[in-house]
Amino acid sequence: PLEMPWLDCRHLDLPPDEKEANAERIIREFRAVSKDREVAYRDGHRMVSVLEKAAFSEKQDLPFVRNGVYLISGGLGGIGIEIAKYLLMHHAARLILVGRTPLPEISHNAEPEADAPDAEKITARIRAFRELEQLDGEVVYEAADICDSEQMLEVCRGAENRWESGLDGVIHLAGIFRTRLLNEETPDSFSESLRPKILGACVLHQLVRENGLFISFGSVNGFLGGLSAGAYSAANTFPDAFSHYLRHERSLQSHCFSWSMWDEVGMSQDYLMKEQSRDQGYFMIDPRKGIAALLAGLHADHPRLLIGLDAAKPFVRPRVRTGAYLPQQLSAYFTASEGTSFPETLQMTEMRDRFGTLSHCEFVRIPEMPLTASGEVDTAELLGMAGQSAQASGEKIAPRTGLERIIAGIWQEVLGIESVGVHNSFFELGGQSILLVQVHSKVQQTLGQDLSMVELLRYPTISSLAGYLGQKEKQKPSYQGAQERAEKQKQIRQKRMQQKRGRGHPRFRNQGPECKN
Ligand SMILES: NC(=O)c1ccc[n+]([C@@H]2O[C@H](COP(=O)([O-])OP(=O)(O)OC[C@H]3O[C@@H](n4cnc5c(N)ncnc54)[C@H](OP(=O)(O)O)[C@@H]3O)[C@@H](O)[C@H]2O)c1
Repeated sequence: PLEMPWLDCRHLDLPPDEKEANAERIIREFRAVSKDREVAYRDGHRMVSVLEKAAFSEKQDLPFVRNGVYLISGGLGGIGIEIAKYLLMHHAARLILVGRTPLPEISHNAEPEADAPDAEKITARIRAFRELEQLDGEVVYEAADICDSEQMLEVCRGAENRWESGLDGVIHLAGIFRTRLLNEETPDSFSESLRPKILGACVLHQLVRENGLFISFGSVNGFLGGLSAGAYSAANTFPDAFSHYLRHERSLQSHCFSWSMWDEVGMSQDYLMKEQSRDQGYFMIDPRKGIAALLAGLHADHPRLLIGLDAAKPFVRPRVRTGAYLPQQLSAYFTASEGTSFPETLQMTEMRDRFGTLSHCEFVRIPEMPLTASGEVDTAELLGMAGQSAQASGEKIAPRTGLERIIAGIWQEVLGIESVGVHNSFFELGGQSILLVQVHSKVQQTLGQDLSMVELLRYPTISSLAGYLGQKEKQKPSYQGAQERAEKQKQIRQKRMQQKRGRGHPRFRNQGPECKN
């Protein structure tokens, strides 16, 4: 749905032996207006995945052994180098770093030819390797494909001959990040992203000694998805589930850490849309903080952690379990003409939620049903009435000029919200790149002005965009036509609202799913 917002996709995980009940469940899910994309039914319970804030009490010592032998897949990648440094400096570890790129220069002590393909990347890796060699412990680099079990057995045999020890652990970092829209993926391109995360993990875990350590790195995209990163997101759902399996079925000390972005490290190097990602709820993680978070997670023995999410942002918030996200709390808001007393029978009414579960219902009488510009019930406003405002916080300054009003109208339409402040960032209000494409085409249509996506990204608030467009427009004809069109649209919206007002009757909202994952 991130790439095709007109599609309403749900993933239902149903027990195969409950055919009749499943049929009913599917129908209920079809009817529901629920935003839950993944739902599992287990033992009669409806379950959805939610995020919960992790507690960080120190439960155990770090699982690293002094002079321990560890294999780091993707070990000369951005994060691999940081982790290798830590293990050498603090645990005098003996490390095998694995990547596919051959680096014969490491053994022959020669620099790659300047015009060789990837010369720059190779030079940087050799330099990083030389720096690691200066630290405590020992380090070797092996060029091998982690998905090839023969090659990996060979690598381990080499380590055993060298150090007379099996593997104390694997830190599985190898991965491939490519941006591509889902409908442009081919079976080959898709499996290229899946391979190191899935096949790689399956091969690597078999190399670790009994009760050894298996740490895998994933991405928050595995939980939240990612625009133009469907294959990468799919690949990153695996480490989490596999880590759970290893811990419970294979007696390994397994952990999965899924990150937002390590600032200017590895895959996130030269990333251009930091500000937008930040507004969407992804923190940039400084490498030192990344290592600190990893150690805190290991001390607390968390099997799975998502690190670097801002739960206050609208893109992340709906997935977070909070006090306001109570299971099965129904509220009915209703209006009634003056003098009407609250009917006691209403309190006695047996309420069931949309999934048929008996539920307590809170009845709230309000003077007027809040409606959005398009005439729908304004649920955000209702939440506000219940003291649980879901609106983004911060002072909201209304549009002040004709141009700001036009842009605000477009944002409201695209984001489906009633009002915006001129200093709110588009991404802070829940805007995603795909919605920005809609804004882009509407701004161009309405104002009849050329505007690139890059310009739009550079000016993410109404105030900054209007200021920029105003400057640009000074050399061009006026906005009169556009303002007239916007005024006309406003009149139509107001007329629709007037027609819909006054039809006050109870509306129900369900504040959350029944169970957590
Ligand atoms: N950097 C971030 O901001 C970030 C954010 C979230 C999650 N992560 C996760 O953290 C991990 C490390 O990321 P990074 O930024 O360090 O990535 P990176 O710099 O791109 O390093 C990944 C390494 O994996 C190696 N690799 C890929 N496929 C392989 C295979 N089949 N066999 C052996 N090696 C293979 C690559 O080396 P060759 O090219 O030589 O094969 C590459 O050096 C990844 O799993 C990623 O999903 C990173």
